[in-house]
Amino acid sequence: METFKDEVLKRTHNCGQLRIEDVDSSVRLCGWVRSYRDHGGVVFIDLRDRDGITQVVFESDESEDSLYSQARILRNEWVIAVAGKVQPRGQERENPKLPTGKIEVVVSELTVLNKSDTVPFEPDEFSNVSEEMRLKYRYIDLRRPEMANALMTRHKICKAMRNALDDDGFIEVETPFLTKSTPEGARDFLVPSRVQQGMFYALPQSPQLFKQILMVSGMDKYYQIVRCFRDEDLRADRQPEFTQIDLEMSFAAEADVMRITNKILRDTCKVVGKDFPADEDIPKIPYDESMAYYGNDRPDIRFEMFLHDVGEIVSKTDFKVFVDTIAKGGIVKAIAVPGGAKFTRKEIDGYTAYVGDLDAKGLAWCKIEGGQFAGGVSKFLPQDVQSELTKQLGANDGDIIFFVADKASTVNKALGGLRIKLGKDFKMYDENTFAWCWVTDFPMVEYNEGEKRWDALHHPFTAPKAEDIDKLDTDPGSVKARAYDIVCNGVELGGGSVRIHSPEIQKKVFELLGIGEEEAKVKFGFLLDALRFGAPPHGGLALGLDRIVMIMVGGQSLRDVIAFPKTQRAICPLTNAPGSVSDKQLAELDIRVITPAQNAPVLE
Ligand code: AMO
Repeated sequence: METFKDEVLKRTHNCGQLRIEDVDSSVRLCGWVRSYRDHGGVVFIDLRDRDGITQVVFESDESEDSLYSQARILRNEWVIAVAGKVQPRGQERENPKLPTGKIEVVVSELTVLNKSDTVPFEPDEFSNVSEEMRLKYRYIDLRRPEMANALMTRHKICKAMRNALDDDGFIEVETPFLTKSTPEGARDFLVPSRVQQGMFYALPQSPQLFKQILMVSGMDKYYQIVRCFRDEDLRADRQPEFTQIDLEMSFAAEADVMRITNKILRDTCKVVGKDFPADEDIPKIPYDESMAYYGNDRPDIRFEMFLHDVGEIVSKTDFKVFVDTIAKGGIVKAIAVPGGAKFTRKEIDGYTAYVGDLDAKGLAWCKIEGGQFAGGVSKFLPQDVQSELTKQLGANDGDIIFFVADKASTVNKALGGLRIKLGKDFKMYDENTFAWCWVTDFPMVEYNEGEKRWDALHHPFTAPKAEDIDKLDTDPGSVKARAYDIVCNGVELGGGSVRIHSPEIQKKVFELLGIGEEEAKVKFGFLLDALRFGAPPHGGLALGLDRIVMIMVGGQSLRDVIAFPKTQRAICPLTNAPGSVSDKQLAELDIRVITPAQNAPVLE
């Protein structure tokens, strides 16, 4: 490898910077060879760095050592430094797709900084390779402009969030990773202790307890951009380690937390040139209403097509599926799909299979054609029922009505899911809009049929509404929590609550959740203690940074916005983590692996 002077590294611009105003300037650029075109006597190279692409030109001057001959040895992904002069490309050669597309740099000096083996895939051809491959060679995948842009936008968003919080008097405090379990509803990642043999740390599912203790400490307004760890089944919007913007404030109620959250999100939206509504224009949708009309607690309000409970109307029919379901305590809900009467049998079968995957036993339907119900279950629906359905659903001629009958949770999951799918399939909304809402008035607890106990819907430190405290003993299912979620386009981007600051109420809630005195002492004794020593009223929230960046850059998966994410099987293909460890390490931890992993490399 040739040696080079440090001079050649002194870039005057990055590869996304030069414009027509820079014509005639002498410049130095460094970057990767993205593409190479030899036009006989002239070589054109697209030079790439994280900021963009600039066309650089190597011309022949008849000499053996001309820049043209030097450039002919270059290959894709080699790292080079060039010096040269900016010139206009001329109208017929301009590339309107590139910000630098009006100019090119005529090279007068070339230095090869490093060669590259033939890459396993060209960054621009990422769509031809598996995701596993992209993650294994992530450094090549990250050279793609979309990925570089996602990481740079992520950085700018973090900076905007930090500024918004700092301006409001929040200070960033770090909390431990080697800690005890925090109940956020997932399994813990455990870390064995060598010093305390047989004992384990849990990686935090969130800094929930520490931030509350910081409030007892008088820290007043805390935030942290912090990694959280949850061992749960992965989906496109879930990673085992992810980042939260976690915040907590003292002497604060719901409105205060919502105000600062809105401010953070408004400044985040500015980063990507999007508007964020004024506080008073963000709808607050109570949980019950969200479940009723959208079938879930993260309503996608970009379009209507609401779910309607039609149990009362259809109970007047002889249709066994509906009548029997209602008799057994289930419900029947319906949606009217505008223009759906044109669906073919095959399309309807497709949607039936879709709700089947969401646990529904079937999808009943009828079309409205020429003012009459037609096809599907219409023969079971007498005229008066048809009129009532049309009225309640706000249905029109040319629509199709879909019904799901089952227990409430299944109906909501299936029909709520179908609503989202239809909205997407039929472009019922503008994909560029961001539709924000707060979901409020969550129930405090929900009954876990399998385990026969009450579970916290948010977490056990959430305060009940003052007017419902008495019902904790008599009717826990009806107690509402002081909890709130922020939702955008049907994605839950954050959640929080006003906390319990009284040790008596905290104890009562633990009792309700079946956490006995002894267990509470072992698991959360430090919090209960802290609450006894002057805990101020406090509340907070955590935003999911990865999800926010994903929505802001229009990504499809969290993997599009995390530098080194895990696969669906919780593996990092780049490093091959998780891996086996040596017998010596296991011995130090006094741990024995009962079933060693297959194919794991043996370590000394
Ligand atoms: P919660 O569990 O609702 O609340 O989490 C807050 C936000 O974190 C994001 N999130 C995730 N993002 C990616 N992958 C995951 N596995 C994942 N899990 C959660 C979501 C979610 O809205 N301690 C409370 C907050 C509080 O009460 O202040 C908490 O962690 O965007």
